[in-house]
Amino acid sequence: MQSIVEQDLGTPARSSAKTVTLNIDGQEVSVPEGTSVMRAAALLGSKIPKLCATDQLEAFGSCRLCLVQIEGVKGLPASCTTPVAEGMKVTTQNKQLADVRRGVMELYISDHPLDCLTCPANGHCELQDMAGVVGLREVRYGYEGANHLVAEKDESNPYFTFDPSKCIVCSRCVRACDEQQGTLALTIQDRGFDSKVSPSQNVSFMDSECVSCGACVQACPTATLSEKSLIDKGQAEHSVTTTCAYCGVGCSFRAEMKGEEVVRMVPNKDGHANHGHSCVKGRFAIGYATHSDRITKPMIRGKITDPWKEVSWEEAIAYAASELKRIQEKYGRDSIGGITSSRCTNEETYLVQKLVRAGFGNNNVDTCARVCHSPTGYGLKNTLGESAGTQSFDSVMKADVIFVIGANPTDGHPVFASQMKRRLRQGAGLIVADPRRIDLVRTPHIAANQHLKLRPGTNVALINSLAHVVVTEGLVKEEFVRERCEIDSFNRWRDFVAQEKNSPETMEAVTGVPAADVRAAARLYATAKNGAIYYGLGVTEHSQGSTMVMGIANLAMATGNIGREGVGVNPLRGQNNVQGSCDMGSFPHEFPGYRHVSDDGVRKLFEGEWGVGLQNEPGLRIPNMFEAALDGDFKGLYIEGEDIAQSDPNTQHVTAALTSMECIIVQDLFLNESAKFAHVFLPGSSFLEKDGTFTNAERRISRVRKVMKPKAGYADWEITQLLSNAVGYPMTYTHPSEIMDEIARLTPTFTGVSFERLDELGSIQWPCNAGHPEGTPTMHIGEFVRGKGRFLLTEYVPTHEKVNARFPLILTTGRILSQYNVGAQTRRTENNVWHDEDRLEIHPHDAEERGIAEGDWVGIASRAGDTVLRARVTERVQPGVVYTTFHFPESGANVITTDNSDWATNCPEYKVTAVQATRVSQPSEWQKRFREFTVAQENFVKRANADAAK
Ligand code: SF4
Ligand code: SF4
Ligand code: SF4
Ligand code: FES
Repeated sequence: MQSIVEQDLGTPARSSAKTVTLNIDGQEVSVPEGTSVMRAAALLGSKIPKLCATDQLEAFGSCRLCLVQIEGVKGLPASCTTPVAEGMKVTTQNKQLADVRRGVMELYISDHPLDCLTCPANGHCELQDMAGVVGLREVRYGYEGANHLVAEKDESNPYFTFDPSKCIVCSRCVRACDEQQGTLALTIQDRGFDSKVSPSQNVSFMDSECVSCGACVQACPTATLSEKSLIDKGQAEHSVTTTCAYCGVGCSFRAEMKGEEVVRMVPNKDGHANHGHSCVKGRFAIGYATHSDRITKPMIRGKITDPWKEVSWEEAIAYAASELKRIQEKYGRDSIGGITSSRCTNEETYLVQKLVRAGFGNNNVDTCARVCHSPTGYGLKNTLGESAGTQSFDSVMKADVIFVIGANPTDGHPVFASQMKRRLRQGAGLIVADPRRIDLVRTPHIAANQHLKLRPGTNVALINSLAHVVVTEGLVKEEFVRERCEIDSFNRWRDFVAQEKNSPETMEAVTGVPAADVRAAARLYATAKNGAIYYGLGVTEHSQGSTMVMGIANLAMATGNIGREGVGVNPLRGQNNVQGSCDMGSFPHEFPGYRHVSDDGVRKLFEGEWGVGLQNEPGLRIPNMFEAALDGDFKGLYIEGEDIAQSDPNTQHVTAALTSMECIIVQDLFLNESAKFAHVFLPGSSFLEKDGTFTNAERRISRVRKVMKPKAGYADWEITQLLSNAVGYPMTYTHPSEIMDEIARLTPTFTGVSFERLDELGSIQWPCNAGHPEGTPTMHIGEFVRGKGRFLLTEYVPTHEKVNARFPLILTTGRILSQYNVGAQTRRTENNVWHDEDRLEIHPHDAEERGIAEGDWVGIASRAGDTVLRARVTERVQPGVVYTTFHFPESGANVITTDNSDWATNCPEYKVTAVQATRVSQPSEWQKRFREFTVAQENFVKRANADAAK
């Protein structure tokens, strides 16, 4: 159990090869050059009073509380803004300093409400602490003069309150918003006595550009900015360090607890992925974990038209196992399978694939990573030799040119986006390739050098034309290629991309991007000292997703941008554990560590450890499971923490497949869309209720720690174990650390990983083994994992999904900051105030042609189906392209997406669907059926609750 108070050294750390030695209060201390006197003193254990300084922000020097005496220096300099110097002699405590500090404090307190006992910050207010530290006993000025005590509160943000009567105008909030978050939503308005903190131009927080990251709340030394949860629940008693369960950034948090209740989530300053920062989801959107929609009792039923029946765990597990065994006896060993989740821990995911391979006796296991980053695995493995990103997030601080392709970091990976924006504000160049104008293209103090606004579906044409410029304009890093890459493959690739058909001028007709822009972007990236590529699902979710990943790797190798800090090829993983679910052997053809099931040696290793014979043929991928189900060959499915009925493309095809199965077991927190087609519901546990690990987009393995008991009685790994034992394959783990020990025994890249080691180091980036005992922040240094880097040819093949007179627009999809994936978690939080429905973005020209105005209901029809959404008319999208998010099931975004998929991995082509949009006045037929079905299914759960209560 850890304390809730974190040490604050006053100013940020400096890294310098040069060390400076000085004397503070008679003690010698040596620190890196550039360190402040305040930090040097704090490192010695001497606490100089402070208010406007914190080690999360650059010093500002406004409060004058931290004054010190320095021998030979006139006056009393502020220790937070004074850098150390060799031989400096500093005095931090004497009567003169104490008097001055008391005087400063007296002024602050004379304009501050004295409601300490009832103040939510009581006990952790720095103003209160400092009044004590400087020994303030009386305020001579009285409280009657002009003051700010009646200033009005701003309660507009659902998660925090702003009470300006308590503000000391230290500007920490403004600097946090500028430096940490990079949104620049706050200013100090006016001067002198009238100066005050103001969101934007004197509007409320909700009406300003604020994205509710909470950095200002964390920075505030008083109760001016306070979490509402803290006001409601009071001070926490202890804290537990854990990892955010939302996106692939993997931010570390201290869950501040009062008994079994989370008071607030505070980003961990020692978090290696987030360095004390967070976004609105991780910090605030945890209400879903205790939402009344949580199902906490197991349920079973014979048919999906039957009401649910609440049963004991024993009965539910016995029923599920008997059904699975019955199906296998009747339809054969391969008639059942399992789906793991990128939202579950590594240990849970590992157990599900083990259950399928060893317990079910087949390889029919797949993961939701199939529908997002499977092309990353394929493309990077075949070119660089490892299926993962090459860098740490911190590496971006050394990038000179940042190339973002098909990713929207400010919405999808907000904390990393803040770090990226910091580097961009320092002057790094920026290229964005995206059909839509994402926020990063133009944001305060940042403007992309090039926005390559390509047509959806033409990524490969674009990457080939960029490569064409590199090879034909002499921009190849010849030495790197000669030493590090397979030269024959390079020569073939060079000759291919140099062909005129790949020139920017020829490809302009395909991509829609002016050739001059492509040439400028290629030159900028190729001539940068360090060029770094970051990409997302806008690269992978295409019929040529794997080809594009290979094209990106080719470009990085040709320009020598691999194998050191500041460069690399970096897939931004959508969900918290996409990397981990792939690492853990969730794909039907691979054991943990990306080793093919047909490899006799590897199979023997697993057979030895698991004590059972294993299949040597790959099993079914998710789309093949659906096909087999519709053919009558696949009848049983165990789904842990994944909602295929909402997240997979062509919803009607998916639901037809689900309806044709005889036993679907869903393990989840809520009655999600897939659970409406289930026969067994096993209530799962949230990330707060279990131990384990997540692996983020930089291969960083971080601990998830249990802060409360599982609401339904079991953590997910325990449920899988119960099911495994019931189907006849024994599992006897007593803690997830034992599962990780087994993973480490079987997986060469994890040999050095254990819970003990994670506790010691904080987090570990795999590979972690004898050669890399503390992990590997940067990959491919000196040599590629596969030896020599391999260039692969990337012929552009247009998608089959064509626009025509019936479907003249292209629909592409993406996500938004406040919601997450299928929305099951964030929709059950206050985050809905920012986004309570999916909307269709449409260009004003297309809208006008169709008589569509802002807010109108629009029917969107594709070859797969149709749905209805409200319109947002915006120039963010280009003419001919429409865009929507997919966070709300009733929107049915995936009713429209088709079965087209990546040629190598079957990753769906979510990003390109030919559609027509028309103004309508009522929901689509699918939406009407969806609503009826949902009401019926929800009633079945209510009846089960009511029956159980009788
Ligand atoms: S709101 Fe808090 S952090 Fe901001 S200026 Fe006021 S006291 Fe300082
Ligand atoms: S919550 Fe974040 S974005 Fe909003 S004002 Fe505070 S620091 Fe800025
Ligand atoms: S950036 Fe991602 S990991 Fe970090 S707090 Fe936000 S959702 Fe969580
Ligand atoms: S802490 Fe140094 S001036 Fe405020």
